[in-house]
Amino acid sequence: MTFTLPVISSSELSELRSPSMVIFKERLLSNMDGMLAMAKSPSRLRPHCKTHKMEQVIRLWVQRGVTKHKAATIAECEMLANAGATDVLFAYNPVGPNIARIVALAAKFPTCSFSVTNDHERPLRELSAAASAAGVAIGVMLDVNVGMDRTGITPETPGAVELYALTAKLPGLRPAGFHVYDGHQRQLNLEERKTAVAQQWPRVTELRSKCEVAGAKVPALACGGTPTFPCYAAMSDPSIELCPGTCVFHDAGYGTNFPDLPFLPAAAIVTRVISRPAADRVTLDIGNKAVAADPPRGSRMFIPELPTAVQEIHSEEHMGLVTPDADRFQPGDVMLAIPMHVCPTSALYDKVAVIENGGVAEYWDVTSRNRKLTI
Ligand SMILES: Cc1ncc(COP(=O)(O)O)c(C=O)c1O
Repeated sequence: MTFTLPVISSSELSELRSPSMVIFKERLLSNMDGMLAMAKSPSRLRPHCKTHKMEQVIRLWVQRGVTKHKAATIAECEMLANAGATDVLFAYNPVGPNIARIVALAAKFPTCSFSVTNDHERPLRELSAAASAAGVAIGVMLDVNVGMDRTGITPETPGAVELYALTAKLPGLRPAGFHVYDGHQRQLNLEERKTAVAQQWPRVTELRSKCEVAGAKVPALACGGTPTFPCYAAMSDPSIELCPGTCVFHDAGYGTNFPDLPFLPAAAIVTRVISRPAADRVTLDIGNKAVAADPPRGSRMFIPELPTAVQEIHSEEHMGLVTPDADRFQPGDVMLAIPMHVCPTSALYDKVAVIENGGVAEYWDVTSRNRKLTI
């Protein structure tokens, strides 16, 4: 797979620090339009902000009518509420001090509805006690494990229905539905992905029926990420909420693995040649503190100017490339690299340059890269 990026004027590019992150605004907006078109309605989307962690991106979503959002940290939740989200799902089962923190957020933003995921009675009871003491109501989504085995409770687990029904009985809580994240569904072929999702779906709906019989409403099913976005988007269950994260920026990893997805890379790293240590070598200033060390070494970025170069050395500050084209480059040459995995890469930067019409239009903060904003 090969990727192209919009042009940045050479005078602007030469002024940009390296390593630094740039966002192509036109691409970002076009990915957002593509997400809205796939979802068919803004009310079906609950995008995950962990990909960008930027308040400015949330403001663009809110302008487009997307008010439900998903987060993986309390700082992301706070950023979402600050940016105008009115329905925030903390999709990271709260335990320990995060219980008091999510309750404090709900008290701080009374016009925003907060919910969390849960798969165990102990933190559920702690959350209930904290929420009722603070006089707030926190929604609870049962975290349903449909095969990823990272978190959650399988639909067939004895006690799953009772656990969810408890959210309807405990003070300070309200049943908010199920969280169905299926990051293990990574079939390269869309039809195979759709089949896999269709196979797991009756397990979810059977659990829903049992919970409803037990007296607990299941108002929403927050489903999937980017690879299964088209699968759930094509389904007609009105409770489905679509939760893609990555495709708002997209990256070279998903672009390579899921060519069916109609999104293009909107984020890149500005990098410079700093050395030519051997005839076939080019060293860039894009170490693993500038692009995420994920996936394994050798494929952490796609470099449009050197698409076939072997990414041999990747240390903290250096990327050592081996390429027969090395003699085309000199120290100081500037180029762009597309991260294979953009989400952990944006978390490495405190600001990004926003490129519009080939030049830097503004800078955005990566607001919730900090673990704590105020709470
Ligand atoms: C719980 C949860 N929901 C949604 C997403 C978004 O998935 P993707 O990055 O494939 O868009 C993720 C990604 O890690 C996730 O962990």
